[in-house]
Amino acid sequence: HKDLTGISDLPPWQILYLLDEAEQWVALNRQRNKHVDVLAGLTIINAFFENSTRTLLSFEIAGKRLGADVVNMHAAQSSVKKGETLIDTATTLNAMRADAIVIRHASSGAVRLIADKVDCPVLNAGDGRHEHPTQALLDALTMRQWMRSRGSEEFTGLKVAICGDILHSRVARSNVLLLTALGADVRVCAPPALMPAAIEQMRVSAYTNFDEAIDDVDVVMMLRLQNERMSGPFIPSAREYRHLYGLTQTRLKRAAPHALVMHPGPMNRGVEIDSDVADHLERSAITTQVEMGVAIRMACLDVLTRRARGIEGWEALS
Ligand code: CP
Repeated sequence: HKDLTGISDLPPWQILYLLDEAEQWVALNRQRNKHVDVLAGLTIINAFFENSTRTLLSFEIAGKRLGADVVNMHAAQSSVKKGETLIDTATTLNAMRADAIVIRHASSGAVRLIADKVDCPVLNAGDGRHEHPTQALLDALTMRQWMRSRGSEEFTGLKVAICGDILHSRVARSNVLLLTALGADVRVCAPPALMPAAIEQMRVSAYTNFDEAIDDVDVVMMLRLQNERMSGPFIPSAREYRHLYGLTQTRLKRAAPHALVMHPGPMNRGVEIDSDVADHLERSAITTQVEMGVAIRMACLDVLTRRARGIEGWEALS
């Protein structure tokens, strides 16, 4: 594939290759001079049709640290607002000869549609409920660094509970695909109305009882309650939701004593996660996840633009 539209496109060796490539960028990003010329002369367009803080900024920072010219297109200020179609927008971006396009869109499948219309690599920055592959990669890098600090790098047998609004979550979907591909033992937990009907087709254990789901797990990944994607009869109140599915200090005691707490952000503090858990210096990896996001996006931009730079693509490595 020229694109990164989902974790479902990646065999395990490509997932691990991207994690390995990102390590050098973690190290670079911790130096004072964070600039290299790897992508000098290339143009990257970030086309965001949905709001973002972490993903948009980290793709922008990643491209700039690698020396590319980075341009951001916010749909709210674009001709999308005048009724321009997605395909016409894609054709327009293609005519500008971008070397990579990063897209976030509210519709599942929109990124694939654009990828099929443009010549350059397209990277999915989150499409509807479908996938958010760079989020799953940065989460995996965060987990691997944490495991390494405990003397192992092995995903096989790692017990991970992904809890919250599984139905609407592209983060959950990409993480399930990635973690099961690497051999982790994945549990998903949601209220019955927020559990996908097709969950049995994924290689996970499904729970509706949060206390049972986090029993003895190594990693607790909390998800945001996505009110903007809710429809139908089930819209829980924040109080009800916290009572049954919020990660509190008391609940966290059910997980393994060393358990790592993750959340992709943005958080609803006091709903799916309490502040004293989210801000816990030893247990919470939430700011590390953001740091790893820049490194992973640098790795993805580097690897996917190698062909444009006359370097063999990663297909040659298989
Ligand atoms: N985790 C994540 O995708 O955050 P943003 O919506 O801020 O990009």
